[in-house]
Amino acid sequence: MTQDELKALVGRAALQYVPPGGLVGVGTGSTVNHFIDALATLPRPVAGAVSSSEASTARLRRHGIPVLEPGAVERLPVYVDGADEIDPRGFMTKGGGAALTREKIVAELAERFVCIVDQSKQVPALGGYPVPVEVIEMAAPRLVRRFAALGGQARLRPGVRTDNGHPLLDVHGLVIEDPSAFEREVNQWPGVVTVGIFAQQRAHVCLVGTPEGVRTLVF
Ligand code: A5P
Repeated sequence: MTQDELKALVGRAALQYVPPGGLVGVGTGSTVNHFIDALATLPRPVAGAVSSSEASTARLRRHGIPVLEPGAVERLPVYVDGADEIDPRGFMTKGGGAALTREKIVAELAERFVCIVDQSKQVPALGGYPVPVEVIEMAAPRLVRRFAALGGQARLRPGVRTDNGHPLLDVHGLVIEDPSAFEREVNQWPGVVTVGIFAQQRAHVCLVGTPEGVRTLVF
C-alpha cells in the first residue's frame, strides 16, 4: 500500500469516533483531507465542524459541511488530526502544514484527540522531525539563539506565513526527552506564538495505518 492509501485508511477509520449528527473538530493536512472526504459520506451528516485552518474550512465547505467558529462552541466530543511524529505516550510534533496554533486551539476544546497517522509517523522520541514554532517576526533572531542554546538549529521556513500572518521557525537537531517540560519552557519565551509540541493537548487515541490494517493505540 502507498503512504496515501494508509492515510486514507485511517481517515475513514476515524469516522467511528464521530457522534452521529454531532459536532467534530477537524485538523489540517493530507491525512485529515481523507477524513474530511470520509465525513461527507456519512449517512447521518455531522451537525457541523470546527476547523483548524483555511484549507480545511474550504474543503469542509466544498462538501457542504457547516463550519462553526471555535467561539461558538463550548466543548467538542472529538478532535481528529494528523501528526508529523507521535511517540509511545501520545505526545506529538505538529505544524508541518503550518496550522499548529489553530490546531491547538481547537484540540483544547475537545474531550478526545484522535490522531490519525500512517506508520512512518511513529517514533520512540520526538525531535527527528524539525519542530515547527510559530513566532512574532521581530523576535525571530533572539529565538534562533535561544534554540541554539538548547542544541537546536532554528531556520525560518522560507516563503511561509501561517493563517494568522506569522512566520515559522523549524528547529532541527533536538532530542525531546520530556515533551511537557519542553512545551512549557518554550511557550513562555517572548515572541513564541505556539510551539509545535503537543504535550498538553496530546492524543488520547492514535489510529495507525499499516499494510495489515489499522492499529489502535489508546493512551
Ligand atoms: C498541520 O499543520 C500539521 O500539524 C499536520 O497535522 C501534520 O503536518 C500532518 O500532516 P499530514 O497528514 O499531511 O502528514
